[in-house]
Amino acid sequence: MKKLIFSALTAVLALSLSACADKGETKAKEQSAATAKPTISEESLGLRKENLYTESGVAPVRKVARTEAPGTAKRFERSYENAPPLIPHSVDGLLPITKNNNACLGCHMPEVASSVGATPIPKTHFMDFRSQKMLDHLAQQRYNCSQCHVPQANVKPLVENKFKPDYRRPGDKSKSSLIHDLNEGVK
Ligand code: HEC
Ligand code: HEC
Repeated sequence: MKKLIFSALTAVLALSLSACADKGETKAKEQSAATAKPTISEESLGLRKENLYTESGVAPVRKVARTEAPGTAKRFERSYENAPPLIPHSVDGLLPITKNNNACLGCHMPEVASSVGATPIPKTHFMDFRSQKMLDHLAQQRYNCSQCHVPQANVKPLVENKFKPDYRRPGDKSKSSLIHDLNEGVK
């Protein structure tokens, strides 16, 4: 009799154990299905919600770009100390810069800038950084202004940016001082 009860008990135990194991297995399967990352296609990798390869729905943002003519625009604060200043005025008719035509020079070369109220091109742009020598002309590497200085458009940022610049001198918000800081930490 005792033996019978014992084997009955073992049978029950074995059954419930196997049920447990089954449950565990299905649970694990469910979990892995839930945590499995959805596949991200290469076409959808761009920040714009557009097919990266065709970008068929992407339109230039020019329409909302600044429209104030040079001489009437309000300068931006520098994005950080010695950042290339953003172009605050309209660039309609000024871009693209070509080999034979660079309208920016007409107002920003130091000898004319003050007469039109423009910020003069700084000394760093008249320097050969390889030899560290001053030149008597604009350095060729600085000819294509819009490579570093960009016009602004009033659009919603694709990625939120919480960066806050930390200027060492109050004047650094509105002008560059790079020519004085060039060898900082070097010499
Ligand atoms: C007709 C004259 C004129 C032309 C051409 C011109 N600018 Fe300007 N620029 C100005 C004036 C004036 C300002 C000062 C803001 C204002 O009054 O509109 C200025 C401001 C700037 C600033 C901001 C400087 C600062 O201190 O924040 C940048 C950068 C700039 N221009 C770049 C350019 C580039 C690049 C081009 C060529 C695509 C260009 N500008 C063509 C007159 C001109
Ligand atoms: C290779 C990048 C680059 C190119 C090309 C370039 N700049 Fe700059 N620019 C900068 C940077 C960086 C600064 C800020 C640091 C400094 O003064 O050098 C600056 C500063 C300036 C300033 C502000 C000067 C001040 O005293 O605050 C003006 C104006 C300017 N650039 C105009 C121009 C014009 C016009 C062109 C084209 C002829 C041009 N830059 C080409 C990178 C560039």
